[in-house]
Amino acid sequence: GAPVVADISKLEVGQRMTVEWRGKPVWILRRSKEAMASLDAVEDKLRDPQSAESKQPEYVSPDTRSRQDHSDIVVLVGLCTHLGCSPLYRPEVAPADLGADWKGGFFCPCHGSKFDFSGRVFKAVPAPLNLEVPPYYYMSDTLIKIG
Ligand code: FES
Repeated sequence: GAPVVADISKLEVGQRMTVEWRGKPVWILRRSKEAMASLDAVEDKLRDPQSAESKQPEYVSPDTRSRQDHSDIVVLVGLCTHLGCSPLYRPEVAPADLGADWKGGFFCPCHGSKFDFSGRVFKAVPAPLNLEVPPYYYMSDTLIKIG
């Protein structure tokens, strides 16, 4: 499939946009300070915190799963690693209905898998792996080429 270029110039803090790449939804999320801070806070609740088994390019950082020059931006394939549903973006911190351990991120409505703001899966849910980070690079500060 052909690469796709995403313009993130209008993406505000806390917002997520979706582009299609190889027939899959790819999310681009500009994380807030609170969302970034939550990544460390949830680390011991995650199944694969360093993405040792999950799919991501070697140039992204293990915790933020982003490129170092734009660490607040995460790019994820928006398909649950369980059976491929599309998880919901739930940016609220610790939504009461989803458990106090969870600090917000992505929630799969099909069978209840929870992911953090880096798309890392929590323990004790059906999804076996973190959401995939596709290959991508910055053509400029506001243009990302995926694929
Ligand atoms: Fe997401 Fe089953 S498809 S939890």
